[in-house]
Amino acid sequence: MLERLAPIGRDPETGGYLRDAWSAADLELREWFAGEAARRGLDLREDRNGNLWAWWGSPSRERPGVVTGSHLDSVRQGGAYDGPLGVVSAFAALDLLKERAVTPSVPVGVACFTDEEGARFGVPCMGSRLLTGALFPDRALGLTDDDGDTLAEVMRRAGRRPHETGRDDETLATVATFVELHVEQGRGLVTEDRPVGVAGAIWPHGRWRLDFRGRADHAGTTRLADRDDPMLPFARMTLAARQAARRLGVVATVGKVRVAPGSANAIPGLVTAWLDARGADAAAVRELVAELSGEASEVREESWTPEVVFAEALRDRLARVAGGDTPAPILPTGAGHDAGILAAAGIPSAMLFVRNPTGVSHSPEEHAERADCEAGVVALADVLEDLCR
Ligand code: GLV
Ligand code: MN
Ligand code: MN
Repeated sequence: MLERLAPIGRDPETGGYLRDAWSAADLELREWFAGEAARRGLDLREDRNGNLWAWWGSPSRERPGVVTGSHLDSVRQGGAYDGPLGVVSAFAALDLLKERAVTPSVPVGVACFTDEEGARFGVPCMGSRLLTGALFPDRALGLTDDDGDTLAEVMRRAGRRPHETGRDDETLATVATFVELHVEQGRGLVTEDRPVGVAGAIWPHGRWRLDFRGRADHAGTTRLADRDDPMLPFARMTLAARQAARRLGVVATVGKVRVAPGSANAIPGLVTAWLDARGADAAAVRELVAELSGEASEVREESWTPEVVFAEALRDRLARVAGGDTPAPILPTGAGHDAGILAAAGIPSAMLFVRNPTGVSHSPEEHAERADCEAGVVALADVLEDLCR
């Protein structure tokens, strides 16, 4: 399955993936998902927010199911595993349950959430946030991509009905438990020398858009004293972010910058930078953003996700079942996930991590060995079998 997905949205020059939500690549990935569901005789549903569900059995409010899955979109120039490994492993785990002749007592579903990375519209976990009501459609539908197209326009072009997005109690009621398998985005499992781990908590994290306004002018004829160059406060902010992060014990990243007009021979009129900040301590993250905000003309919070501590009982059950003789290690993570959004909405949720030898993620360097992926599938099948006994 991963080999079949490999060419979709792949940049031939870098080997990185470009799988923005609702792009041609994303639509092809959705087709792939539908094909895998059909091949297995699963009942395919797309909810009002664009999330895909492939059901083995028919879930209802009275008989909600156990769901596993992840996402198929990517960050710009991302790797092959962040997201797809969880979806592929979900289908493979269902196959394994069938091979084992397991008859689940409740429906089992494979989910693919829309726009987990927020690469196109800036807000991560868009599909699960809309589904749970953590994000209101009024705000989501007006978000724009780099071309200035709104989410509403983009969804409409993809044949969807944006006015129907929003909290979806009917779909939520079909999910009794959610388990997301994900490639590890660090080297915790390398250190532990284990192929599979379990998520303990997700750090609080957020994204802020900072506008630095100045005055565009000629790069040669404008005296230094007469300049109002927004690149300077932007640069000060970026350096200060690293210093403040070190002092406060958090992480801060400026990974996206837009300069207007963007000419080598013009002083910029506007620099827009996106700051991503995360850490175990939400107050420290907030303090960092407050400290840096002074340099900017305008600061807008694009998303904020409070800490998620996965429920202990379910987490420990997973660690026991997935770990074999010794419980699987429990690891915290600085990455956001749809499982965190569902957990915050009160749906019992948990995560399995698969070892990543490079520890690198959101980059083509992201990797998982085939044997570890297979161990992940077996662990996921064991967990599903245990949960739907
Ligand atoms: C998603 O992977 C995120 O943590 O930004
Ligand atoms: Mn990611
Ligand atoms: Mn992911």
